[in-house]
Amino acid sequence: MPYSIKDTILYVENLSVAYDGKVIIKDINFTEKDIHREDVVTGQVIAILGRSGRGKSTLFKALTGLVKPTSGQVLIRDIKNSTETDIKAKMVEEGDVGFVDQKYTLFRNKTILQALKFALRTSNLSEAEKQSKIETYIKEWGLEKVKNQYPNELSGGQRQRTAVIEQIFSSGNYMIMDEPFSGLDVGNVEDVKRSIHKIGEDHTLNTVIFSTHDIELAVSLADSIYVIGYPTINGKLENYGTIVGHFDLKAMHIAWQKFGASHLQLVEQIKTLMLNS
Ligand SMILES: Nc1ncnc2c1ncn2[C@@H]1O[C@H](COP(=O)(O)OP(=O)(O)O)[C@@H](O)[C@H]1O
Ligand SMILES: [Mg+2]
Repeated sequence: MPYSIKDTILYVENLSVAYDGKVIIKDINFTEKDIHREDVVTGQVIAILGRSGRGKSTLFKALTGLVKPTSGQVLIRDIKNSTETDIKAKMVEEGDVGFVDQKYTLFRNKTILQALKFALRTSNLSEAEKQSKIETYIKEWGLEKVKNQYPNELSGGQRQRTAVIEQIFSSGNYMIMDEPFSGLDVGNVEDVKRSIHKIGEDHTLNTVIFSTHDIELAVSLADSIYVIGYPTINGKLENYGTIVGHFDLKAMHIAWQKFGASHLQLVEQIKTLMLNS
C-alpha cells in the first residue's frame, strides 16, 4: 500500500530515566513521523512490546512529561507555534499529550457527563457547542446508557473509554495508552481495537502509542513496533531496559493488512527476541 512520510511527530534522543540512582531505562533513541496515505485518515499506531518490568510504563511517563529524564530529551511538535510549512519542536511537558494509564483513573465523585464537561473547561467552545460535543462522543463511544453513572458503577471498558474521551478533549499531539488490553474481559479486546482506530481518526496528530506483552495483538494492530528489553553487552545481560528491536511494518509491506503468514513469522521473530531480553 503506497504511503508518504511527512513531518516528525516524536523525537526521542538518548533518553535515560533513573529512580533513586537506579537506572531503569537507558539510551533510548527513536523518531516517529507522520504517515499519509491517499484517501484515508492514516492513524499511526505504534506498539511498545516488552516483558514485565522492562520499563514500558517508565518510558511512557517520560513520553508524557510526567517524569523528567535523567539524560536525553523527548521532543514533540509545538502545535501552537507551528504552521503547515514551518514545524517547530518543543520538549514535552505534562498535559501536552494524551495519557490513559493502566487503571483508567477517573474522578471518583464525577459522573461521565460531569467528567467530560470538566475536561472541556478550558476549551474555547460555547456552552452549547460543548454540550453537543459531549453528547456526540457519548453516543459514538457507546456510553449513552451510563452517562450519569460514577466510576465505581462502570465496567473496565466503560471507564477506559471515558478516560480516552477526556484525553481527546484535553490533550494534543499523540495518545499514549499503557497496557490498554490488560484487565479487560476477553470480549473487550475488539472494543479496544476499535477505540485505537477511532483515536487515530480523531486525536490531534492521529497517533496512538500503546504498550502490551501480547505480540500477536501488536503485530495485528501496529504499523511500527519497538521491543524494549534488557540488552546483552559483552555476553552479559544488563538489567536496564532499552530498545532491542524496531520493526517498521510499513517498510515490511505488512501494515494495514489482514493477519497472514508474514505476520505470524514476525510474531515468532519477536518472541525469540523478547525471550532473550
Ligand atoms: N517510582 C518508581 N520508583 C522506583 N522504581 C520504580 C518506579 N517505577 C518503576 N520502578 C521500577 O522500574 C522497573 C520498570 O518498571 P515499569 O516501567 O513499570 O516496567 P513495565 O511497565 O515494562 O512493566 C521495575 O523494576 C520497577 O520496579
Ligand atoms: Mg507497565
